[in-house]
Amino acid sequence: MIAIGCDHAALELKKEIVTRLESRGVKIKDYGCYTSEAVDYPVYARKVAEAVASGECEKGILICGTGIGMSIAANKVKGIRCALCGDTFSARATRQHNDANILALGERVVGKGLALDIVDVFLNTEFSGEERHVRRIGLIERQNEK
Ligand code: RB5
Repeated sequence: MIAIGCDHAALELKKEIVTRLESRGVKIKDYGCYTSEAVDYPVYARKVAEAVASGECEKGILICGTGIGMSIAANKVKGIRCALCGDTFSARATRQHNDANILALGERVVGKGLALDIVDVFLNTEFSGEERHVRRIGLIERQNEK
């Protein structure tokens, strides 16, 4: 199950991503928002981040105008490694090296075609599991505890 959330600035891109993933049989849980009325992105970042941190959803996708606010907010939740990506190289690397569990995107930054490619790469790339990356992720987790 993939958790997805957006604010009012990213409703259209969220619809495109949901349509694409559902057409491929991916199960999606949509945490809103659902209309173009202005909302506060941290509310949706938290819903998706908690769904991923609790294990209810395997990964998450958060979209706002820039992706920046969503990524900042999601990374406040323990266990979340949210990566803002504007290219497929970063999407692949953040899965392989950081084991990122949430992808953040900016609808006002990336076009639809690139965004869909980034989502595909993010969801289809495995964590490398290499010792140095496991160690570095452990260091991040311990920083969270202070
Ligand atoms: C909303 O105008 C905008 O601030 C939001 O979508 C996002 O870009 C924040 O980081």
